[in-house]
Amino acid sequence: MHFTDPVIDTDHAWTLFEWAGGLPALTRMTRLFYSKYVPEDPLIGPLFANMAPDHPERVAAWLGEVFGGPKRYTERYGGYPRMLGQHVGKAITEAQRERWVTLLRRSADDAGLPRDPEWRAAFVGYLEWGSRLALENSQPGAKPPMHMPVPRWWWVCDATPGSRVSALAPTVEKTEVRTAAPNEPVTFDAHIKSLFRQMDRQSMRFVFDLWSHADVAKHSAEILNRLENGSMPCDGAWPKDKVGLFRRWVESGMPE
Ligand code: HEM
Repeated sequence: MHFTDPVIDTDHAWTLFEWAGGLPALTRMTRLFYSKYVPEDPLIGPLFANMAPDHPERVAAWLGEVFGGPKRYTERYGGYPRMLGQHVGKAITEAQRERWVTLLRRSADDAGLPRDPEWRAAFVGYLEWGSRLALENSQPGAKPPMHMPVPRWWWVCDATPGSRVSALAPTVEKTEVRTAAPNEPVTFDAHIKSLFRQMDRQSMRFVFDLWSHADVAKHSAEILNRLENGSMPCDGAWPKDKVGLFRRWVESGMPE
């Protein structure tokens, strides 16, 4: 059908909310969770026997807000104090917490939420963290602070989609190396910038931009050191001629 996967725009800083598929995807997941799994589960079913009819939409709105989407739970449903108030006094047990997480993960699969390692790690990380807080706050005598901000969750260690080469990728992104004649000046725009792949740029973005002359010049000593000892890029060291070109640029004063 001439279908090709959409190209990931690595320049866009995706939120976990966007990557999940937005509110429709999260609502699909919570509706499945509360209609398919929860009612028939002997451990957690009774806890939700009297839940509000729009409980799945409320939890989806909370998750969406946590994952960097619109502040829908705060604006429509009462924000952090409401969420907390719904857990206080429930005396959730570890077995119930664990079941809640397991069934919500299963619902994420059923609802077709992303399965890539980056999104799943962040998603499950939040479920583990949040459910342990819910358990703690629900214990008899617990005194949780009533007015905390809604957490804003992010990718684990900034590992965003597209920041690594998949072992199953059909082709590895190639760079076009422009060689420089012995007396030709090596410049950033003509020779150096194109040595860095989109993927290299994306993986380093949390510290500097490999396509910016100012950033590369500022960090040139560390970059050269990593290139020479072969520890960067992480999927394979550069050949000698590429490292040599970079060194020549550094030694010639790093012209733009
Ligand atoms: C990351 C973990 C969790 C999140 C984000 C979460 C989120 C929420 C939210 C937003 C509400 C309030 C909805 C409203 O506005 O009415 C709520 C209520 C509730 N939660 Fe959680 N929850 C978590 C973990 C758990 C766990 C582990 C349990 C028990 C196994 C649990 C049991 C309940 C119950 C019983 C209610 C009240 C339902 C009702 O009767 O209306 N939650 N949760």
